[in-house]
Amino acid sequence: MSRLVIVSNRVPSPRERSQLAGGLAVALREAIGGRETLWFGWSGSTSQNPPATPRVTRLGRIGFATIDLLPADYEGYYRGFSNGMLWPLFHYRTGLAEFRREDHAAYRRVNETFAAALAPLLRPGDLLWVHDYHLIPLGAALRRRGFSGRLGFFLHVPFPSPTIYEALPQGDALLADFAAYDVIGLQTQQDAANLNTLLAEGGFAVRASVFPIGIEPHAFAREAAAAAEGPEGVRLRESLADRALILGVDRLDYSKGIPQRFRGFEQLLKRFPEHRGRVTMLQIAPVSRGDVTQYRALRRELDELAGRINGMQAEFDWVPLRYLTQTVPRNTLAGFQRIAAIGLVTPLRDGMNLVAKEFVAAQDPQNPGALVLSRFAGAAHELAGALVFNPYDPDETAEALHIALTLPEAERRVRWQQMWEAVARNTAGAWARNFVARLEHAAAAAA
Ligand code: ADP
Ligand code: F6P
Repeated sequence: MSRLVIVSNRVPSPRERSQLAGGLAVALREAIGGRETLWFGWSGSTSQNPPATPRVTRLGRIGFATIDLLPADYEGYYRGFSNGMLWPLFHYRTGLAEFRREDHAAYRRVNETFAAALAPLLRPGDLLWVHDYHLIPLGAALRRRGFSGRLGFFLHVPFPSPTIYEALPQGDALLADFAAYDVIGLQTQQDAANLNTLLAEGGFAVRASVFPIGIEPHAFAREAAAAAEGPEGVRLRESLADRALILGVDRLDYSKGIPQRFRGFEQLLKRFPEHRGRVTMLQIAPVSRGDVTQYRALRRELDELAGRINGMQAEFDWVPLRYLTQTVPRNTLAGFQRIAAIGLVTPLRDGMNLVAKEFVAAQDPQNPGALVLSRFAGAAHELAGALVFNPYDPDETAEALHIALTLPEAERRVRWQQMWEAVARNTAGAWARNFVARLEHAAAAAA
């Protein structure tokens, strides 16, 4: 069996490695199976004198190899080009994108640094699987260094329409970088169609395929059922005093539509006053990428909006919105999702949105909550039982919430069953196994 080499910007920290819980890590553990694996990426640290060779540690059949970045490289590669330019552009937010030639140069330099550090660790038969927008040029950089094995790439975020992509300076070079891979995976048909249009126009032969990412629903369901009865679950239920819980869980990111969500909730309270005093919205949004300008602006906006909504809408014995920017442990969150009557997921654009799938998995099948889901999440293509809406319209959000709050139990069960089947079919493990199988069968590129 070929060795699998996974490359991602973030690699599980030593503490996470012993349990390998959470999203990508869980999915990849499944793909790894009994295979020998090397996982390569950024250590999460910067240093003025990063060692030229990676730091390697082992855990069973998995080796972890990480490198530090120079502070200036981190700035330009991670903060600048990856999260200040590609992230907003790929999420259709051209107005938020900031391009600087020095950031672009740092992005290319770090990809070269990754390739230079990884190449000596590679063996001819390795299967290489590169992840996400930080590392698009890595495959081509490895080919230039003589790697002739199979190269796969999966993009976890959306790929924009060609008219949006056009705004990217040096976009042709990045497109040629995509074309260096043997297998390219995207989350949805729409994303694949967008990239394939550009690849065809550029005269490249490779085509992207769709591999929608999933979760491990059975494990998540067990965690949720246990945590809902744990001390935090009990405290949350007591604090709700029989009010219906509307729950939002996200990184504090402008792609998640959190201001739109708050305005939609405010509109619910104004237009459907029968819910006043009977619902509580809990938004958990720990700070993410807090050193990127656009994220700091969002935080200020939400602080002000949450304060205004509570100031205007609260009554002396009821506060409608609880807003937390600290982190909550994953299993506690799973329990909260089980307690919630409504999962409210509002991205303005999202590759998949795993929170939506986790909400489904967390429900009590006998009395499930309802999922109110933005049509702009990749998950909306799979979860037909959700109440799908357009988060740009606060009235539509309010109407969807009102319908969700008043759904009869029988209809909630039918909707949930449909969603559960989709979530249970397309697990994280199936996603990773499918991708690796495709890569294994791809014709090895000529050396
Ligand atoms: P993204 O990859 O953009 O962060 P996803 O919804 O696809 O969005 O995946 C997020 C993952 O991180 C999920 O597994 C989710 O449970 C976890 N997560 C999201 N928000 C939080 C939060 N507030 N606290 C803890 N974990 C979170
Ligand atoms: O899904 C997008 C993504 O960039 C993941 O690759 C990443 O793990 C997550 O969001 C959190 O972002 P960051 O690594 O920038 O903290």
